[in-house]
Amino acid sequence: MYFPDYRPRRLRRTETLRRMVRETVLSVDDLIQPFFVVPGTGVQEAISSLPGQFHWSVDKLVEEAVAIRDLGIPAVILFGLPEAKDETGSAGQAEDGVVQRALRAIKKRINDLVLITDVCLCEYTSHGHCGVLKDGEVDNDATLELLAQQALSHVQAGADMVAPSDMMDGRVAEIRQVLDDHGFSHIPIMSYAAKFASSFYGPFREAAQSTPAFGDRRGYQMDPANGREALREVALDIEEGADIVMVKPALPFLDIISQVRQEFDRPVAAYHVSGEYAMIKAAAEKGWLDEKAVVMEALTGVKRAGADLILTYFAKDVATWLKGAS
Ligand code: PBG
Repeated sequence: MYFPDYRPRRLRRTETLRRMVRETVLSVDDLIQPFFVVPGTGVQEAISSLPGQFHWSVDKLVEEAVAIRDLGIPAVILFGLPEAKDETGSAGQAEDGVVQRALRAIKKRINDLVLITDVCLCEYTSHGHCGVLKDGEVDNDATLELLAQQALSHVQAGADMVAPSDMMDGRVAEIRQVLDDHGFSHIPIMSYAAKFASSFYGPFREAAQSTPAFGDRRGYQMDPANGREALREVALDIEEGADIVMVKPALPFLDIISQVRQEFDRPVAAYHVSGEYAMIKAAAEKGWLDEKAVVMEALTGVKRAGADLILTYFAKDVATWLKGAS
């Protein structure tokens, strides 16, 4: 049945009609807000590469976490900037590390916000790589135990979920084993399963002070050209025990999100990363784009592609906008 019998515009005529046939609706339940935790007290310092985002000391972060919960956002993901860095990233698994302190403080105040932690060495190593070095290269197997100990220390401090972002082979299995051995078999793992060696992480690395001192991350993060390999990575992480699988970044990899959604029956998360955020912020600042409209379009697109969850620096804004709309 073709024109003039079928007229697609009939169902686009009014907002109410459009609302009735809308296939994808972004919800506050889909959102995860990232936070950067720093030492000290009373700190809420603007991050220049991520306008609208801050470095938070634990005391200030607790207040912000309450605000996030009150907006209905279900989860946050924490990144730590430690007091000191070393070769093996030992501050990442310290009982009194910044992330561990933040977890305890937030948990003490509220218990209905899901606290996820990013598990990786890059924020804690002096060289900025995501694993330990041997002869100038990242040593996969020597890194696994360190990641698992970091994950364990997060969970012991109150993390509800851990999210390994290092891209070492076998880390999901190692973390699962260590958590299970310590009585944490109920704690889920959200793996950064298909994490690409992307140039869109630039503003994050400035915020987390985690730029590698030499070389780059292409020896462990995925080649952005590879789609089939992304599916193998996801399959491996699920076999190792991942409960949620993530694709990262989001917009340049919508095809991967879509394929992962179709091939696997696990919840899929997508990380709308720092560079994706910064591009919109910069264009909006110049008056070239309508920030709210493009954010809603971009994130709705990520959800339409197949993401069940979206990690985004816009989470608070989106939650606020959605509230205004209802
Ligand atoms: C740590 C990590 C990174 C991001 C999340 N976890 C940086 C990287 O891999 O270099 C990037 C997040 C973003 O750009 O918003 N490995």
